[in-house]
Amino acid sequence: MADNLEELPGVGPKAAEKLIEAGYTDFISIAAASAGEISAASDIGVQTAENIIQAAREKLKMGFKTAEEIAEKRKEIGKITTCSKNLDELLGGGIETQAITEVHGSFGSSKTQMAHQLAVSVQLPKEKGGLNGSCVYIDTEGTFRPERIIQMAEALGMDPKKTLKNIFVARAFNSDHQVVLVEKAKEVIKEKKVKLLIVDSLTAHFRSDYTGRGELAPRQQKLNRHLHALQRIGDVYNVAIFVTNQVMARPDILFGDPTKPIGGHVLAHAATFRIYLRKSKGTKRIARLIDSPYLPEGEAVFNLTTEGIRD
Ligand SMILES: Nc1ncnc2c1ncn2[C@@H]1O[C@H](COP(=O)(O)OP(=O)(O)O)[C@@H](O)[C@H]1O
Ligand SMILES: [Mg+2]
Repeated sequence: MADNLEELPGVGPKAAEKLIEAGYTDFISIAAASAGEISAASDIGVQTAENIIQAAREKLKMGFKTAEEIAEKRKEIGKITTCSKNLDELLGGGIETQAITEVHGSFGSSKTQMAHQLAVSVQLPKEKGGLNGSCVYIDTEGTFRPERIIQMAEALGMDPKKTLKNIFVARAFNSDHQVVLVEKAKEVIKEKKVKLLIVDSLTAHFRSDYTGRGELAPRQQKLNRHLHALQRIGDVYNVAIFVTNQVMARPDILFGDPTKPIGGHVLAHAATFRIYLRKSKGTKRIARLIDSPYLPEGEAVFNLTTEGIRD
């Protein structure tokens, strides 16, 4: 959802219109821009642009906070159970709010199953590992299955109908659409006590929309903005962000794992937790925690069952 730019001191209807036409539809995009950029794109004078940028930064309270304020904010962090004790332990208790958790792995490694599981378990009461919240599910590959939600909900003794009603699903048809859906999601999040936002898959559309060699830079820039928007939703609304990602083959690797996650450094920096999933025998899957600000690296084994994710 775009911000009302006229809330910024010094921005009247005319200036707001110019900004919007130039693509500056929300406070954050203005706060992050330079006066030169805005001026060039909108024919607003440089000095006026500078004032508008300052106003946007003020509006967003960009700047320093005390460590005490940060500690207070972190107290609000909630955790969502994966329904596997092993995996929860690896994650320090489950998937966290105010953070982006990325899972990557090859086809069939259980990324989508995990997304379904979390969409259900976020609805559990706190004492059972949930956040008593609802879920926004952005499905980019058309793999969301309500039948699977019903199975998982019944396995946890939840009302399947209610569970379905608390999952707000949108299908994204390309990367632009995906970006807009995340903006749209804010409206649902404000109204429906959403505690989990899923994007399955985060990167697939970006990968297919930008295929040429010269398109890597614009793709990564757009992915970066998308990730910032997601992180901001996580922070502002105390929501857990769960995104899935594919891996690609690395022909240069002879020993060890010949795959790597796509999204490059942009995603590596944006994700607070990164989990690498791989298939083992039968229903067994292995999760490896790769990057965490305060948890040790490690692995957990879990099972993919009809009930959902279990030890
Ligand atoms: N109803 C079900 N009961 C048990 N396992 C299932 C069920 N539905 C799907 N699976 C398992 O989930 C796996 C696919 O995982 P998925 O999450 O779609 O992988 P991806 O990582 O590609 O998203 C399949 O191998 C299948 O064994
Ligand atoms: Mg999938």
